[in-house]
Amino acid sequence: MDIEKDKLPKHVAIIMDGNGRWAKKQGFARVFGHKSGVRSVRDSIKVCLENRISCLTLYAFSEENWARPKMEVSTIMNLMVSSMKDELSSFLKNGVRFRYIGDDTRLSDSMKEEFDYCVEQTAHCQNMTLVIAVNYSAQTEIVSAARKIASDVAEGKLKVEEINKSTIENHLYTAGLPPVDLLIRTSGEQRISNFLLWQIAYSELYFSPVLWPDFSEKIFTDILKDFTSRERRYGKTSEQLEQQNK
Ligand code: FPP
Repeated sequence: MDIEKDKLPKHVAIIMDGNGRWAKKQGFARVFGHKSGVRSVRDSIKVCLENRISCLTLYAFSEENWARPKMEVSTIMNLMVSSMKDELSSFLKNGVRFRYIGDDTRLSDSMKEEFDYCVEQTAHCQNMTLVIAVNYSAQTEIVSAARKIASDVAEGKLKVEEINKSTIENHLYTAGLPPVDLLIRTSGEQRISNFLLWQIAYSELYFSPVLWPDFSEKIFTDILKDFTSRERRYGKTSEQLEQQNK
């Protein structure tokens, strides 16, 4: 069955889960799972480019992940930096714009430098946007938006009655990105884990049993096919939607 291109999501978000279990299953240290997970990141970007999906957001490191063993934390951080270095030329060739979201105050200077360089270099790219969530927490993101809005009100730049959904959206880390149409989590866990809480209000959710390093182009493409067969009603009835689409 071919994919119905016009029904594809514009924005896919993925909670990449199961690296540690994947490594353990084969008798390796957890960090081996993270290293192997980079291939799935590359494959996922490829699938988005092939299907003209304009935005892919990956949950790479949560605020809570700092509690992991130091060595594991530094491996994940180093992997992200080295992957960006390795992939920059491919991003430029394929028109991938890079962006990162999260609280950057806790990231190392060298990581911020590398990421900012990648953001600058790919700013003109238009085929898709790749967003990496690092030191990310949706609740912190909403608190930060509330603070910025409150200070605009305090400074007289904004009236309380003027605050609406767009005001909040424009103050989130994801300002300017389309809402998330499809959220995928791998490894069989069925949780949101403080990821994009505002942005997934109307997302379709897909929980895959596959561990992240085994997530392949075929699996992602099959999930996209499943997505195109779902009816997104946004609170309306099926009959209303039929009428609307005539
Ligand atoms: C979750 O698996 C995975 C992570 C917290 C890290 C994901 C990071 C990468 C794949 C590194 C490269 C990233 C980019 C964007 C290039 P887990 O460790 O929670 O697995 P477990 O639940 O089996 O323990």
